[in-house]
Amino acid sequence: MSAGIITSAYIAASVLFILSLGGLSNQETARRGNLFGILGMAIAIVATIFNPGVGNYALIIILMVSGGGIGALVAARVQMTAMPQLVALLHSFVGLAAVLVGFGTFLDPTVEYFDIEKTIHSIEIYLGVLIGAVTFTGSVIAFGKLQGIINSRPLTIPGRHLINIAIGLACLWFGWQFISMAGLDAGVSPLIIATVLALIFGAHMVLAIGGADMPVVISMLNSYSGWAAAATGFMLANDLLIVTGALVGSSGAILSYIMCRAMNRRFLAVILGGFGESVSSSSSTTSDQQVISISHDESAQLLREADSVVIVPGYGMAVAHAQHPVSELTKILRNNNTDVRFAIHPVAGRMPGHMNVLLAEAKVPYDIVLEMDEINDDLPETDVVLVIGANDIVNPSAQEDPDGPIAGMPVLEVWKSNATIVLKRSMATGYAGVDNPLFHRDKTKMLFGDAKDSIEKVLAALK
Ligand code: TAP
Repeated sequence: MSAGIITSAYIAASVLFILSLGGLSNQETARRGNLFGILGMAIAIVATIFNPGVGNYALIIILMVSGGGIGALVAARVQMTAMPQLVALLHSFVGLAAVLVGFGTFLDPTVEYFDIEKTIHSIEIYLGVLIGAVTFTGSVIAFGKLQGIINSRPLTIPGRHLINIAIGLACLWFGWQFISMAGLDAGVSPLIIATVLALIFGAHMVLAIGGADMPVVISMLNSYSGWAAAATGFMLANDLLIVTGALVGSSGAILSYIMCRAMNRRFLAVILGGFGESVSSSSSTTSDQQVISISHDESAQLLREADSVVIVPGYGMAVAHAQHPVSELTKILRNNNTDVRFAIHPVAGRMPGHMNVLLAEAKVPYDIVLEMDEINDDLPETDVVLVIGANDIVNPSAQEDPDGPIAGMPVLEVWKSNATIVLKRSMATGYAGVDNPLFHRDKTKMLFGDAKDSIEKVLAALK
């Protein structure tokens, strides 16, 4: 393939990636966005494989078929609730790839740079390896926290900020050593030491972040993986990888900003960690209090009499696979002339847009699915709020307990409605591990049980 065709293919792929990001920003165009992304990636892979500098096709084909096969199998089998872990794992691969490409490029005996070019190339390698290493261990720890293998409470070892500063300074020093040393043998030791330090830093950074702040971590690691890919692009002198990495890196950074705003956190404060370490002062008081249970028939009666209903889905709806009966319930209530709307908290579930994807899958009309800011003010005039497997995102202690782990996080103020029905299996806490005083309020009724099962019983009672 000629250089001109490859450049044209790379430009076409870049445009398709940008169109893909544009499409993914809206539910109605998300499918099209995905198709653009797939097409762009297919063009990018073909153009890269037929690059004149690429050889050893047998090995490439074997690795692509086995890697692609494993990927397809995992993607087909993964539960919707396990998607965030999978995404974290995939981010870790990007980080690991950047580290391996960095070492590979540095040790490649066929490529030699001199003077300023050598310095620039060394900086590219050093930064690429560092970002890749932080992304790798950070993502592995994020995977462990999301999978429940590692406790979601923040690990706040004494003097952790000093440790981070010391690692940062050491990386600067070894970076200087690496870049200024002439020969290959002289440079590899600082690179290895800095890699180990960056691996430790990545793990330590994510371990120190509390459960409630994981959304920011996920989008932040998404951004890091983009910058790691861009750094790999610089090392390999591949323009498309630089563009793609920069697109992922910057969109991840914008998402991190949006997540921080949604949770009322400062980005720096989140990555420095420690949120969620204090124990909510409400935890000891709420657990002994009474709750009011409600039956399926009584719930159906309340819904039948309501003029307005707001449904708040949370992680439990995903666990229970309750989206289809919820969609059915919406249809029946709307046929009964009830005004039904959905309230989506920005961090509901375990990944950005988690609830929107589930509701779209169950064919809930987009126009009745509203963001938190669009619907919070309407909740005091709402007859019934149905909280389906949500907990942290409707927790009043975010506003009432200034020392609690989720203090300051904007929440859906469901307790202001005329009646709230909470569907969950037990009195267990949500992801942030904070007791929820909502369950003990006078206007709150608890409908205990699996959310799908409960909604199906309410549906049966309504029919
Ligand atoms: P959570 O606070 O995690 O609460 C989910 C609730 O669902 C639990 O209290 C659980 O109670 C209930 N549940 C689980 N399985 C159920 C089932 N089969 N049927 C009925 N209920 C079930 O969820 P949320 O309110 O959506 O808040 C999200 C939390 O995750 C926030 O803390 C957020 O920061 C964090 N997080 C979000 C993201 C993103 S990007 N969205 C990423 C990582 C972490 P029972 O066990 O009693 O049933």
